[in-house]
Amino acid sequence: MSPREMNQSNFACVVGARPNFVKMAPLLRALDCYANIRTVLIHTGQHYDAGLSDVFFEELGMRRPDICLEVGSGKHGAQAAKVMERLEVCLEQGLPGGGKYDRVVVVGDVNSTMASALAAVKLQIPVAHVEAGLRSFDRSMPEEINRIVTDAVADVLLVSEPAGVENLRREGHPEEHIHLVGNIMIDTLKRLLPEAKKRDTLDQFHLSPGRYGVVTLHRPSNVDAPAALERLLEVLIETSQELPLVFPVHPRTRKRLAEFGLSRRIERARRLTLTEPLGYLDLLALTSQAKVIITDSGGLQEEATVLGIPCLTARPNTERPITVEEGTSTLVGNDAEKLRRCLRSVLDGTYKGGRCPALWDGQAAVRIAQVLTAPARAVQSQLV
Ligand code: UD1
Repeated sequence: MSPREMNQSNFACVVGARPNFVKMAPLLRALDCYANIRTVLIHTGQHYDAGLSDVFFEELGMRRPDICLEVGSGKHGAQAAKVMERLEVCLEQGLPGGGKYDRVVVVGDVNSTMASALAAVKLQIPVAHVEAGLRSFDRSMPEEINRIVTDAVADVLLVSEPAGVENLRREGHPEEHIHLVGNIMIDTLKRLLPEAKKRDTLDQFHLSPGRYGVVTLHRPSNVDAPAALERLLEVLIETSQELPLVFPVHPRTRKRLAEFGLSRRIERARRLTLTEPLGYLDLLALTSQAKVIITDSGGLQEEATVLGIPCLTARPNTERPITVEEGTSTLVGNDAEKLRRCLRSVLDGTYKGGRCPALWDGQAAVRIAQVLTAPARAVQSQLV
């Protein structure tokens, strides 16, 4: 065995759903710079639609997955179980072409993240979690359970904002496991913003810069309850009379709108435009030039903060408090009155400003790669 092969480390990098792709793409690129690291990209298949999955690989310039587990949709238990069952087999088999996995890298807080971390740690393969430590303190959110479980079994905890470090310390994680590295989603945003702005997305929707809003809603708490969804829609329809709104609709939301008999009502609102889910570049083209973003997505809260666009977050809480404390986000829950008031202040030009949080600078992947490739002793030192 050559000295290089002796130092060789094999990482299984696992993705499953839309927000994972945006975080893994820059990390793969950063790890590719290390000759002694071999990465195997595994897609669980939690998201499988072209619009939720394929388009991201193309636009992010991410290589096709080396292994697809094709778990698909299902109830939480069934979906997580399928990921565990299939990933376990794949990790036990080792790398295509031979070799064993030295580490599993998971990102974010989706079911695939948690299930992959569990499968790995039970095989005694160490787990690194990118976006560790975030807590909404709301256990009714499936993502909160995923975050707590993933962090509990990971030994490298890569954190995007200081509140995450505090949460992990409070939970008793050893200091040497915790690394504040910044926000890796922003690496992708900074790299692709110039390209996004060159697209003709606004023309396609007949929109002018700064004179429209972007809406996304997909959380079960907003879209699975008819009353909550209807309340939010009322405000959107009303607002669209003053400010055109474009609303890329997640498959879950589309299903609910039809089930609750709300689709016709929206069709009648001429300036509220519903579209299929958009790819990364089209959505960034829209969000980066919008007057306001109304969303329940964690990722969009963060992107809005970096873009300096007002973000009205349709959630009662957030695991990303820095987007409210330093950034442009305000939590409006599903309180129609609060949403109306905030929209008014955006339209009147009195809405708060924000600043870009420290380490949300487009270099998080480089810092994460440094942590992951450092010799064992060095991994234990804090980066900042
Ligand atoms: C998942 C994540 C959520 C993340 C979101 C981003 C969990 C618990 N939730 O939510 O944190 O913000 O992704 O989009 O992991 N469906 C399709 N095509 C697909 C995938 C799903 O039509 O490619 C439909 C199916 O009807 C499925 C439903 O969407 O039952 C929900 O999909 P699922 O992956 O369970 O959760 P998301 O709501 O997408």
